[in-house]
Amino acid sequence: MGFILQQSDMKIFMALMLISFTQKGYAQVSFESWLQNEVIISQSKIFASMSFQDLAPGAIVASPSKSQPDYYYHWIRDAGLVADVLVDMYQKSSDINRKKYLEQKIKNYISFSAKNQKAPALSGFGEPKFYVDGTAYSLPWGRPQNDGPALRALALVKWAEIRIDEGFLSEVQNQLYDGKIPTKTVIKNDLEYVAAHWSEASFDLWEEVLGDHFFTRWVQRSALLKGAQLAQKLGDLGASDWYLKQALQIEASLNSFVRNVSYSYIPSTLNIQGHDKSKKMNLDSAVLLGLLRAPSPDLFLPWSHIKVQKTLETLIQEFSQIYNINRGHLNPGVAVGRYPEDVYDGENSIQGNPWVLTTLAAAETYYEMAQAATEASQVQGLIDQGDAFFQRVRVHAFADGSLSEQIDRNTGYMRSAYDLTWNYAAVLTTYWARERALKNLIK
Ligand code: NOJ
Ligand code: NOJ
Repeated sequence: MGFILQQSDMKIFMALMLISFTQKGYAQVSFESWLQNEVIISQSKIFASMSFQDLAPGAIVASPSKSQPDYYYHWIRDAGLVADVLVDMYQKSSDINRKKYLEQKIKNYISFSAKNQKAPALSGFGEPKFYVDGTAYSLPWGRPQNDGPALRALALVKWAEIRIDEGFLSEVQNQLYDGKIPTKTVIKNDLEYVAAHWSEASFDLWEEVLGDHFFTRWVQRSALLKGAQLAQKLGDLGASDWYLKQALQIEASLNSFVRNVSYSYIPSTLNIQGHDKSKKMNLDSAVLLGLLRAPSPDLFLPWSHIKVQKTLETLIQEFSQIYNINRGHLNPGVAVGRYPEDVYDGENSIQGNPWVLTTLAAAETYYEMAQAATEASQVQGLIDQGDAFFQRVRVHAFADGSLSEQIDRNTGYMRSAYDLTWNYAAVLTTYWARERALKNLIK
């Protein structure tokens, strides 16, 4: 037919489209019941990601998608985050059969991880992704990615503590932490690697930039602090001291991010190797993701810290301007991306989009802030903010509750890798953070 839409028509057209798909099934079910349903779906999608026929037991695929993009691999980072959620699910459940099922999944993940650690890999323990049979990917890739071992250790230290409490000390000593050098156990291997290599440049969680990253250092510090406690409990006192000493040095390095006077927020990366001019702002959802996924056991960087607040605020402000679907405030919250300059759309590098897991990270951050707040009115306000971002994910989700990696910045439809496993882990952690925030309301 060939007619050309004027820019202003285009905006109206898009706004109408948004309203129409927002209303589809949206107001019919309450937010609460949508949430309950989404939690159930997320749990079964996580199990599905470990159940494909060709997987070695314990492998967790990042997404079932095998092309455009091919995410049919076990990424150490994604899997570590998922394993952490499996451990939380185990801890929260009181159903014997479900607990047995989860225990088996976690134990499979542990043996698969042991296999990964033994597999020849171009960047050793910093190798970011493995085939589903446990061998390392060896084509060109951004490597090493040193957040991986730290995230895996965080999940498994949590598991080890639970097993010790349940009376399975020797299981922990045999498979997880033997306190020996060289070690045959997964956690000890990871902690030794993190303690020895944290100061080296590595690729960021988005696999693009080589440098020193807040996200990576933050999860490394947390892993060493938690690991030091475990080492001490198991009588490996020298190691415990050594991990603590390294954690303290990482803290000094993290301070160079937090106290950096060039930014009102916490910058994502310092000391970039090679030159990457594309990320001018140095502003990244990764900072929130780090704080969320590796809670500080001390008061180093509380949710009330001005730089943490500024990081959240600036991200929201930027993304509300960048993406068309955020214009006009037709929908609750704001669809949040990885970083403002992002161009990765799942296939090409032309124009980036908001992501589900970073939009959920904004929600989860509000819930954490609500949990830390002391005045009832403040708590409620922060929960409402969190809900707006959670509801925003609902607006863009498929009707059956499934979630792809990205949300198209113009149409609002799901795009890139379907059923991204990390998304489902994020739904659960965000939901649990909401539950804790609601408890703070009742107190
Ligand atoms: C794949 C990576 O996983 C993704 O994070 C990145 O943006 C693209 N490659 C482009 O480098
Ligand atoms: C690309 C993301 O940038 C990265 O963080 C992730 O590990 C992989 N996709 C797999 O989900």
